[in-house]
Amino acid sequence: MKAIWKRWFNKDASANIDDNSKAELKNLDIPEHVAIIMDGNGRWAKSRMLPRAAGHSEGMKVIRRITKFANEVGVKALTLYAFSTENWKRPEKEVNYLMKLPVEFLDTFLPELIEENVRVNIMGEIDGLPNHTRAAVEKAMKDTAHNDGLLLNLAFNYGSRAEMLLGVKQLMEDVKKGKVATDDITEELFSSYLMTDGIRDPDLLIRTSGEIRLSNFMLWQLAYTEFWFTDVLWPDFTEKDFMEAIKVYQARSRRYGGL
Ligand code: IPE
Ligand code: IPE
Ligand code: MG
Repeated sequence: MKAIWKRWFNKDASANIDDNSKAELKNLDIPEHVAIIMDGNGRWAKSRMLPRAAGHSEGMKVIRRITKFANEVGVKALTLYAFSTENWKRPEKEVNYLMKLPVEFLDTFLPELIEENVRVNIMGEIDGLPNHTRAAVEKAMKDTAHNDGLLLNLAFNYGSRAEMLLGVKQLMEDVKKGKVATDDITEELFSSYLMTDGIRDPDLLIRTSGEIRLSNFMLWQLAYTEFWFTDVLWPDFTEKDFMEAIKVYQARSRRYGGL
């Protein structure tokens, strides 16, 4: 079977993951926090001779499906890397398109997210976003603030080094003001100055598209996370792939340096 048809075939098969396999998964050790570096939208489009924007648009639909699935199997927090502080280097046209995506995504899916009890959080420098993007993400956070189901943590205009520098600056301010003593600076306290304050470290990290690197993503928080890489491009990523990642995670032995 040709690779492309194989993927379509698998896609169809995965669309109907039966309730039994979901239930089976539910009884096992579900990673509470899953983080995903959603990569490969551009290559997906290129392989179809489509503009890169088509890949981003297709990728957005996958976010919706995977969010729903994660919520159903009992994941508590899903962090999705959607735009990095380095992605501003891309051509203006692509950046403009990417800045429109949260607006489009939330316009279309916010009612559904509210219905599914999902709480939306934006992890990143919101102040650096264009007004329309900022308004959309702020509305989503406000409208879902009281939901207590899955936390959908969208990393947008996020970079781990920038996050840590910002945290260090705030911490130094608090030391200067006498709110914090240098001796009180523990790992836990430092964590509370990061954008993930109140969110546990990811249990599982997934990166799609075959790239084996972190690209400035959650460098502090991933210290003891289990990593799973796949060649599947993000627009092709299915519930079945997600389930496979969880099963691999479940077979891992997390020792945290102990025995
Ligand atoms: C991931 O897909 C989405 C963003 C980084 C915004 P890419 O746009 O990086 O796709 P590739 O890596 O070029 O295929
Ligand atoms: C990482 O992907 C950022 C996001 C997925 C948003 P990139 O495509 O920007 O990363 P590099 O350039 O391959 O490292
Ligand atoms: Mg990429």
